[in-house]
Amino acid sequence: MTRLVDLRSDTVTQPTPAMREAMASAKVGDVGYDEDPSVNELEQRFAAMVAKPKAIFVPSGVMANQIAVRVLTRPGDVIIAGRDQHVVSFEMGASARNSAVQFALVDDRAGVLRTSDVTDIIDAEQDHQPHVAMVAIENTHMVSGGIPWELEDVRSLRRSLTGLALYLDGARLFNAVVATGTTAAEYCDSATMVMACLSKGLCAPVGSMLAGPEDLMAAALIERKRLGGTMRQAGFLAAAGLVALETMVERLGEDHARARAMAEMVAVAFPESGYDPTSCRTNIVAFEHPQARKVVADLAEKGVLAGTVAPRRVRLVTHAGVSDDDVTFVADVLKDFGVSSA
Ligand SMILES: Cc1ncc(COP(=O)(O)O)c(C=O)c1O
Repeated sequence: MTRLVDLRSDTVTQPTPAMREAMASAKVGDVGYDEDPSVNELEQRFAAMVAKPKAIFVPSGVMANQIAVRVLTRPGDVIIAGRDQHVVSFEMGASARNSAVQFALVDDRAGVLRTSDVTDIIDAEQDHQPHVAMVAIENTHMVSGGIPWELEDVRSLRRSLTGLALYLDGARLFNAVVATGTTAAEYCDSATMVMACLSKGLCAPVGSMLAGPEDLMAAALIERKRLGGTMRQAGFLAAAGLVALETMVERLGEDHARARAMAEMVAVAFPESGYDPTSCRTNIVAFEHPQARKVVADLAEKGVLAGTVAPRRVRLVTHAGVSDDDVTFVADVLKDFGVSSA
């Protein structure tokens, strides 16, 4: 086998030639002294895109989430979130360890949180249950298959949360933007704080952005320091991030089209999964299969790298490193795959 198509994640993307050039010539300074012009420009640019007063550059999406949790909660508080969300299930218990909080979990397999599920938990405070400090949502929602939130659903959830913080894990916010035609600013007007990753579909090598109001972001700067996330001449990375925000958003539509093509193939190859290809609206194909791990191993043998995100859930992710030709290759692999995996 000579060919490999890597669909494990959009985190495997490589920086583009324009990013490499921008990195080589970036103006840099010490972020700890607020003196890195490239980082400052990136932060201002992102803040403007999400229409928040202040944004900060952090090393990773997990750190952005963890800073937000530290800023928006106190030990013993409850965070309401979907049980499949990254901040709940894919951060190695970081919120418990870093912030001594607990989650109240609601079903989010459809990608969104039902407002009534959320308000029931908030209401339970009157029944001697712990204080809810924030609600966290994920847009797009990874485990569900990159499902984007509809703007009205975010706004309606916001309206039901009188005074409570709403945090938006927008690791793939720009996929949602491109898929729905909603602007980043519109999505974020309901969110107290928001994060977005530069290092996934947008192809930057490192980094995420966290944004919110001035007072919370002042606290976020302290938490970034506490967590060791105040990088020094990080302008080299920010320069790539600027190219990502300026040139890589619109092209996410290509990843979505390729994912949708694969979704159709998956539905045919694995009828036992009951997968509905129309649920694929961004760059993730995620489907149930009783032998998910075997499916992933068999695909790998044939040159297609996939992954699992739960014991019986397979995930394929498109990104800038996947071409139309790769999709044709995957189609050929999947054609006889259904038969051999039965
Ligand atoms: C929804 C979501 N949030 C947060 C993260 C964390 O990002 P990072 O890997 O940059 O820490 C990821 C990463 O895959 C993610 O999918």
